[in-house]
Amino acid sequence: MSDVTEDHARAIAAVRIEALRGEIREHNRRYYEEDEPSIPDSEWDALMVELRSLETEYRELDAPDSPSHSVGGTPGVQFAAVVHSLPMMSLDNAFTFADLEAWGQRAARGVGAVPVGPLVCELKFDGLAISIRYEKGRLVRAATRGNGRVGEDVTANVRTIADVPHRLGKGAPAVLEVRGEVYMSLAVFTALNDALRAAGERTYVNPRNTAAGSLRQKDPTMTASRNLSFFSYGVGEVQGAPPLQSHAETLEYLGSLGMPVNPEMRVVEDLTAAGKYIEHREEHRHDLPYEIDGVVVKVDSIERQRALGSTSHAPKWAIAFKFPPEERTTRLRDIQVSIGGKGKATPFAVLEPVFVGGSTVGVATLHNEDQVKAKDVRPGDTVIVRKAGDVIPEVVGPVLAERPKGLAPWVFPSHCSCPEHYPLTREAGDAAHYCRNPVCPIQKAGWIEHFASREAMDIEGLGESRVQLFVEQGFINDIGDVYSIDFDRLRTLEGFGDLSVNNLRAAIENSKTRPLSALFVGLNIRHVRGVAAEALAAAFGDLDRIMNSSEEQLAAVNGIGPITAHSVYEYFADEHHRAIVEKLRAAGLNFSAPTDANTLLEQTLTGKSVVITGTLPNYSREAAEAAVKARGGKATGSVSKNTLAVVLGDSPGANKVTKAEQLGVPMIDEDAFNHLLDTGELR
Ligand code: IVH
Repeated sequence: MSDVTEDHARAIAAVRIEALRGEIREHNRRYYEEDEPSIPDSEWDALMVELRSLETEYRELDAPDSPSHSVGGTPGVQFAAVVHSLPMMSLDNAFTFADLEAWGQRAARGVGAVPVGPLVCELKFDGLAISIRYEKGRLVRAATRGNGRVGEDVTANVRTIADVPHRLGKGAPAVLEVRGEVYMSLAVFTALNDALRAAGERTYVNPRNTAAGSLRQKDPTMTASRNLSFFSYGVGEVQGAPPLQSHAETLEYLGSLGMPVNPEMRVVEDLTAAGKYIEHREEHRHDLPYEIDGVVVKVDSIERQRALGSTSHAPKWAIAFKFPPEERTTRLRDIQVSIGGKGKATPFAVLEPVFVGGSTVGVATLHNEDQVKAKDVRPGDTVIVRKAGDVIPEVVGPVLAERPKGLAPWVFPSHCSCPEHYPLTREAGDAAHYCRNPVCPIQKAGWIEHFASREAMDIEGLGESRVQLFVEQGFINDIGDVYSIDFDRLRTLEGFGDLSVNNLRAAIENSKTRPLSALFVGLNIRHVRGVAAEALAAAFGDLDRIMNSSEEQLAAVNGIGPITAHSVYEYFADEHHRAIVEKLRAAGLNFSAPTDANTLLEQTLTGKSVVITGTLPNYSREAAEAAVKARGGKATGSVSKNTLAVVLGDSPGANKVTKAEQLGVPMIDEDAFNHLLDTGELR
């Protein structure tokens, strides 16, 4: 490559590396600190693989603080910090047998022996890593991994895990740190979700996050009720133990002291045998009563482990073979469209139920029209289904060889199935279709559900199934009715005892004090989610001011673009929406917020009109006019005696200049214009 193209390639790589680091950090934060992953693990892995390979190719762009060098996450806030006596490392991943082979060769070279010798194959449990410290056989501390160096003290919670002994058996050493995985069995997970569903509450996504959330409870009795489990897979600091020569011996030793060790571990002679173990485990992964996401292969000899050492984040003597997302084929019975809270029409696949990734899948989202077209799936096709990150079912594509002759492509329906049969429209630049019927009953339930959701009014106990029931039974027709539910009538419904009715009533009552930004999210205005809602609440300070603002005033708020401003304006122009707001006002909801002086523009030009002519150095014509309007003024096209000032740019209109001279209207430059915007005065 010539220098120029090399520089260019490096510059592109630098931009991509920064973007990947930012993205991975954000996902890590969601994963480790909120226990709520935003992408499937497989996508996270792909981002990390791309980052590592770029950093390897462009070593000069590598940085010590890159997320590729840390284990991920930072210690949480609720618990005391624990500095690990030996760092808790992560594992490098292999996704193919070629990756595994390459690792084996590196390891063999590293110890100067071919092959590298006996290997231990273990299941890769999908839970969270912890370190449990025993001193003189007594459990003294348990900590999460945190960032690998510093974790959180979860001793009280770990003591409630039945598998974890409080005292080790005979022959316990002076110090023993047991490293292993806390997990939730599938049976416990399913039972918990069944109970939540029955109570009308939100269910959990997967056992891993539920286990993590359960371990990080403030109240240990809460953790105890979650029935967590534990497997040991290694040690940290050890003092006073008999010399341990191999990893298998270590596991046996842990077992002899009463620590739970997974019975599926095997010592194998070489990589070929490890490959067989992996294939077998992958095929039977769902026969297990807990979730695994791969197999960990470890060099058995402790001496060789020492010789190999570690990178900044992972030992070189071990590798995690990650299973690919599971795939199955099934028949696509139909493609239907669901109407969401904002009238968004989302196509979804209705499938012949198929068991994939540990559960039965009958429906899968197809996202939007373009996705259906790109995948070219047609009702009647045999399709490949997989679980993205083993959580969200996804239709990968059709099996073309099995497509029946003459199968027609699917066409997005032109109209909503609401009684008014509103058209489903798609605007330029938008991938989604919408039903714009403001009283679409199909949207009703979706909107109310959104209103009650955590990001909006956070009404616990008002989830999907209850909202549907309440709408069907005529308890609520729109979000305004949430505050006038007839609780006496509700008590007559099956499954609504005093306790659940009182809880719901309290949750609804509490929501009245939610901040204005949350209420704003709940109003379900297109393009208005958290950040925009907060910006608007902070800028205007109360709902009435937002409702009565012009599009220009809305667009002048920092962080609000013209599309959002238009959407907010249109929303409040609708009588139906205003009527709902009045119901909410009558219910006593919080309509005001502390304002932010920086974002709320002073109305310096109320009732005044300004003419802009010619090209200004730092404003486009639209921006200059918007700036006037955002301060309550008018930007007009012709000069009259009522014109406060004419702002002159380069090549101004001759007529305007002459007229201003005749009428004695002051002509000002951009500097004076800025002053005028700020103060409302001419200098
Ligand atoms: S050994 C120094 N063995 O996988 C080696 N880890 O992706 C530390 N994990 O943080 C890990 N099953 O939470 C090891 N049999 C197993 C495992 C296992 C699950 C987790 C563990 C680790 C993560 C790395």
